[in-house]
Amino acid sequence: MEAVITPARQLIGEVDIPGDKSISHRGVMLGSLAKGTTRITHFLTGEDCLNTIKAFQSMGVSIETNINSRNETEVIITGKGLHGLNKPASTIDVGNSGTTARLLSGILAGQSFSSVLDGDASLRKRPMGRVVEPLAKMGAIIHANDGKLPLNIYGSELHGIEYSLPVASAQVKSAIILAALYADSPAVIHQNALSRDHTEIMINFFGGKVETRDLSIHAHPVNELYARDLYVPGDISSAAFFITAALLVPNSRITMKKVGINPTRTGILDVYRQMGADIKVENIDYANGEPMGDLTASYSLLRGVEIEGAMIPRLIDEIPIIALAASQAHGTTVIRDAAELKVKESNRIDMVVRTLRTLGADIEATEDGMVIHGPAPLTGNIVSCGMDHRIAMMAAIAGLIARDRTIIADSQWVDISFPGFFNAIERLK
Ligand code: S3P
Repeated sequence: MEAVITPARQLIGEVDIPGDKSISHRGVMLGSLAKGTTRITHFLTGEDCLNTIKAFQSMGVSIETNINSRNETEVIITGKGLHGLNKPASTIDVGNSGTTARLLSGILAGQSFSSVLDGDASLRKRPMGRVVEPLAKMGAIIHANDGKLPLNIYGSELHGIEYSLPVASAQVKSAIILAALYADSPAVIHQNALSRDHTEIMINFFGGKVETRDLSIHAHPVNELYARDLYVPGDISSAAFFITAALLVPNSRITMKKVGINPTRTGILDVYRQMGADIKVENIDYANGEPMGDLTASYSLLRGVEIEGAMIPRLIDEIPIIALAASQAHGTTVIRDAAELKVKESNRIDMVVRTLRTLGADIEATEDGMVIHGPAPLTGNIVSCGMDHRIAMMAAIAGLIARDRTIIADSQWVDISFPGFFNAIERLK
């Protein structure tokens, strides 16, 4: 489906940022494995999270969705307990969702049945060996297709391991932590940098025990988890597009309420402030152990910056939109240590560089990141997002500051993480 973006003079107003994708996935998974009823409000109804719901429904979990009086989507899960899942009747197809595939592998490894996990053409290209390897060390029997999907997972008895993560991946870490729920001893995980810790926070909230000391995690087995109600804060990775729109379109100011500000996710705020951005965070509150706040971003003159090292996992999903901001900043921006971008929903080094260049930016790819010279006026053009929702949204925000209109040929991919994205833009104009 084609979307046409016309330049904006000014963007003023408030955007309801959909629920956090990572937290929504984990809520369905842990709610399904807990004893009792879990009610999740402000759940993200994007395609990826709907695929997580379908996966657990196919294993016999009753999951209903309805709209509450505040017009929020509520998900009600009747948990089956840690050992209550049924063998799915057919292959579990998780579509485009890497988080579902990787985290679910950890859960399926500990079941008393075998299962097959598969995904769409984009997900079939992404590495699964990174979860298969540590899970096999725990005793799991998993047959992969040359390190990729589909996976045949034969449920088995699992044991604790001590494991150093070769990449700072929250998905790999989470697969091990979830498998450890079923193991006969704790798993100890060492990280070289902090990645998002929503799994750790939510397991503890459901009565489990995951201890974090500096960069090491002790994930303990449990007999049961216990259902709790959850509120999903707005996804800072989705807010990132509107924060950037406000910074780039002259005279703009956009407010986003109750957005998640877990420190493992707020690298974009730190980097944008270093670039000179005016972003306020107010009314800080907590929901199920997760911090959230009201964000207001206003038009700002930006300068180039260097982004590298331990900062990268704190903003990995925001690099496409940060690259757009950098194309409008004064000076050079260098992004390093981000080779992980090559194995996201698309090769995001290639796709960001190719798309922003097509739109008029001065940007080049490096082995582990990109170099961007700004400011370069954007022209508008026709682009395709390559099955990658964040590339589609980056191109749309670029279209707001381009000279002519921008056409995104396959704009339907935004539904993966941000249903209603294009309407939200129109309401601010
Ligand atoms: C996610 C972890 C990150 C992130 C992805 C969501 C999660 O992936 O890019 O969008 O929910 O755990 P990696 O673990 O591969 O870095």
